[in-house]
Amino acid sequence: MFNGWKLGLFIWVLSIFPLACFSANFVPVDNYLIDCGSPTNTSVRNRIFVADNSAKNFLSTQRDILASTTSKSITSFDDSPLYQTARIFDGSSKFTFSIRQNGRHWIRLYFYPFTNGTFNLSTANFAVSTQNHILLSNFNVQKDPIMKEFSVNVTSSTLVINFTPSNNSFAFLNAIEVVSLPDGLIADDAQTINPRGAYSGLSSQALETVARVNMGGPTVSFENDTLQRTWIPDRGFLIQPNLAANVSNIGAVNYPKGGATENTAPATVYGTLTEMNSASDPKSNFNVTWEFNVNLGFQYLLRLHFCDIVSKALNELYFNVYIDSFIAARDVDLSNLVNALATPYYMDFVTAVTARNKLRISIGSSSLNDYPNAILNGLEILKMNNSMGGLSEATVLSSSGSNSKKNVGMIVGVSLGTVTAVVLVGVFFIFCTKRRQLLRQGHSKTWIPLSIGGKSHTMGSKYSNGTTTSAASNLGYRFPFLAVHEATNDFDESWVIGIGGFGKVYKGELNDGTKVAVKRGNPRSQQGLAEFRTEIEMLSQFRHRHLVSLIGYCDEKSEMILIYEYMENGTLKGHLYGSGFPSLSWKQRLEICIGAARGLHYLHTGYAKAVIHRDVKSANILLDENLMAKVADFGLSKTGPEIDQTHVSTAVKGSFGYLDPEYFRRQQLTEKSDVYSFGVVLFEVLCARPVIDPSLPREMVNLAEWAMKWQKKGQLDQIIDSTLVGKIRPDSLRKFGETAEKCLADFGVDRPSMGDVLWNLEYALQLQEAVIQGDPEDNSTNMIELSPQVNNFNQDASVSATQFEDSSANDLSGVSMSRVFSQLVKSEGR
Ligand SMILES: *[C@@H]1O[C@H](CO)[C@@H](O)[C@H](O)[C@H]1NC(C)=O
Ligand SMILES: *[C@@H]1O[C@H](CO)[C@@H](O)[C@H](O)[C@H]1NC(C)=O
Ligand SMILES: *[C@@H]1O[C@H](CO)[C@@H](O)[C@H](O)[C@H]1NC(C)=O
Ligand SMILES: *[C@@H]1O[C@H](CO)[C@@H](O)[C@H](O)[C@H]1NC(C)=O
Ligand SMILES: *[C@@H]1O[C@H](CO)[C@@H](O)[C@H](O)[C@H]1NC(C)=O
Ligand SMILES: *[C@@H]1O[C@H](CO)[C@@H](O)[C@H](O)[C@H]1NC(C)=O
Ligand SMILES: *[C@@H]1O[C@H](CO)[C@@H](O)[C@H](O)[C@H]1NC(C)=O
Ligand SMILES: *[C@@H]1O[C@H](CO)[C@@H](O)[C@H](O)[C@H]1NC(C)=O
Ligand SMILES: *[C@@H]1O[C@H](CO)[C@@H](O)[C@H](O)[C@H]1NC(C)=O
Repeated sequence: MFNGWKLGLFIWVLSIFPLACFSANFVPVDNYLIDCGSPTNTSVRNRIFVADNSAKNFLSTQRDILASTTSKSITSFDDSPLYQTARIFDGSSKFTFSIRQNGRHWIRLYFYPFTNGTFNLSTANFAVSTQNHILLSNFNVQKDPIMKEFSVNVTSSTLVINFTPSNNSFAFLNAIEVVSLPDGLIADDAQTINPRGAYSGLSSQALETVARVNMGGPTVSFENDTLQRTWIPDRGFLIQPNLAANVSNIGAVNYPKGGATENTAPATVYGTLTEMNSASDPKSNFNVTWEFNVNLGFQYLLRLHFCDIVSKALNELYFNVYIDSFIAARDVDLSNLVNALATPYYMDFVTAVTARNKLRISIGSSSLNDYPNAILNGLEILKMNNSMGGLSEATVLSSSGSNSKKNVGMIVGVSLGTVTAVVLVGVFFIFCTKRRQLLRQGHSKTWIPLSIGGKSHTMGSKYSNGTTTSAASNLGYRFPFLAVHEATNDFDESWVIGIGGFGKVYKGELNDGTKVAVKRGNPRSQQGLAEFRTEIEMLSQFRHRHLVSLIGYCDEKSEMILIYEYMENGTLKGHLYGSGFPSLSWKQRLEICIGAARGLHYLHTGYAKAVIHRDVKSANILLDENLMAKVADFGLSKTGPEIDQTHVSTAVKGSFGYLDPEYFRRQQLTEKSDVYSFGVVLFEVLCARPVIDPSLPREMVNLAEWAMKWQKKGQLDQIIDSTLVGKIRPDSLRKFGETAEKCLADFGVDRPSMGDVLWNLEYALQLQEAVIQGDPEDNSTNMIELSPQVNNFNQDASVSATQFEDSSANDLSGVSMSRVFSQLVKSEGR
């Protein structure tokens, strides 16, 4: 009996483990807290800032100069003990911290300019820098205590923080923190607003906290934040406070199972908000606007926190968000994004400050509302480093010296140049969002996570008894961590073959010699968890020779590891440009497109509910040793419309440059969004250039737009990959161009189905191989007469769709679909 009870407990512990380990309080791996100048350890709530002499190992400085004050003027601060003592640097000095876990870290610097003997700290002037970034320069603190908070992604095994006094001056520091942050906290990408686009590369940015605001609520002090952040009330930032009203219901806040967590922002932030004060006039229409001081010439990451604690029912509140005069998000319906009330959600935007040193955030009611309202719960404004790695306006000045007139001229030139560059970069931002969100309930049903006892039944699927063409005939199963560890040579950095939002991808070899690709999620990234599950779920249901197959997974020790068949030839993208691979022939390219189209067609039709990939791009099309294409990366996939619905409403995900404009406008997802993205891939394959290339003249930046321009003029041949010039038969190119053009139709309804795309690509291949003889003009005419479906996308595709469904099924049992397919075309085409 006792044993039974123990076993029960054990099982219970095991089954809650996966959730528990992701929602437990964050424990930083690196955690350096130093109270400079202090003879004793200082405790600030539960955190111990060690005495200065305990920190000697980290510090390299010429002279020890310690100072203290007995000033009472700072005792109202919770962290006031830290400000009582300081260390003074009269020459260049540095802290060297060894970093146990790479990734983003807080660097918090505490300054209070008291006077001690000959040192009046408010006369200090200095710079603070790391190996990669200049955090402060020409820095000076006048009067009040100040804590400067930065976060940087440390990618080496040490973090060096240099203190460099300006000429004839000195530097000082009251306390310092270097503390690990959860990996998923700041993703690599965000949206841009003007123009709409995607920013990626946040992970290499140093960020400085400019404002962290709790809308409609009081100060949330660092003790009440899992990451020791302080949130201040928004009143002081409101332009017209009378237009704003407070709402508070902290108890209602219910964190989603993926997406925002307590580490994103505490419930005390999500549980209060500022809304429109429409009480006096329910017909009123206005914006609630906050204004912040910022520095011209810098970019800022804005994180907006939302949690609908005001609606009584779902789909009741729609609002718009503006950044300066630009719309950032229109008709936001949080119910759609998180599928629940009182559920935290956040959005990240990058904006460049180019006009004035103020930044405005506004919210306003959407016309979809019955009663005007709009909400905002929290806001973080984080300054991003400039192209010189600096966060300070004076970066240029201090790093190049300011003594001679000549220098000043140069500096002004450089500064203007930098500002111009920032403006230009700002103009070309690209679009992509990786809004994280919940998996739909229905979606999770097929996922039986982490079955007990190691033998997993998770992967059982309706295809598990079918034959597959993949080497991994056993469906994916749960690998022990040790096996993964061995397979990847202890996650050898030199075995890394790719890095993505989710984590790193390693080459690996199982002990039976099977080559595998091992995708390791950042262990503590909550956002990755949903995608991790989606991918296992998707891949274990879908087996197809043109979909990358999953061999197994590992979730031990809160790891999120996926093990795939190894794709010898990497990504399609890599073969198109930038990686020095020999260039692919037109035939090879067509075959790859056809393979990928098959994989997608199967996703859309091979299962009762259509599955929408959502992130179709050349980097997600992988090539095996025979250059056979397989579609990868199902992390964002969603099951598509039910019979009675026409679309899936969802947060925008995907990659900029590939993203369906209709999906972005209406946030409604259909298979046609994949078709659009695939159309972009087709042009990419033809032109062998990135889909967004900000270095090109404006009209060329966006490949989809540019290629469509030439396609419409009938001169697509002008922009094709130079290595293909003279090698594509004109009729093959024409067919290919038309196909891509149809895929890029503005409205989903006007786009062909994936089955039609596939058909047309097959035909383009046949035209290239001259299966149909004769002069090109005749070909087109013949083709239209003989096989109407091929040229007319608007026709009902049901016939071809049925055929494809059959052939997809055949594909599963190893019958080459291309044979089936070419027979179909041939029999009809003759
Ligand atoms: C301060 O704390 C550190 C580590 O917690 C400890 O090693 C050291 O002895 C303490 N120093 C004093 C002065 O209490
Ligand atoms: C200056 O700092 C030193 C070292 O902490 C301390 O002993 C001294 O009392 C301070 N002097 C004044 C005037 O506060
Ligand atoms: C320290 O320097 C500041 C600015 O130079 C000055 O305003 C202040 O009076 C000085 N404080 C003392 C105690 O000398
Ligand atoms: C830090 O940078 C590395 C290398 O660019 C990247 O792989 C990693 O994802 C980044 N980490 C975070 C937390 O941004
Ligand atoms: C809103 O809340 C803030 C902070 O709690 C408070 O200072 C302010 O007076 C409140 N405003 C209204 C209109 O209730
Ligand atoms: C932390 O939050 C709790 C509950 O809201 C509150 O009672 C407490 O005063 C807060 N602590 C601080 C230091 O703000
Ligand atoms: C809200 O602000 C935006 C951006 O400045 C502006 O375009 C819009 O007209 C404003 N709405 C109202 C109702 O004032
Ligand atoms: C910020 O600094 C990093 C490292 O120095 C650099 O790679 C990156 O390009 C900088 N960001 C911008 C926007 O210039
Ligand atoms: C500091 O002085 C040195 C030598 O006099 C000079 O080369 C340097 O440019 C000066 N730096 C600043 C920031 O004034």
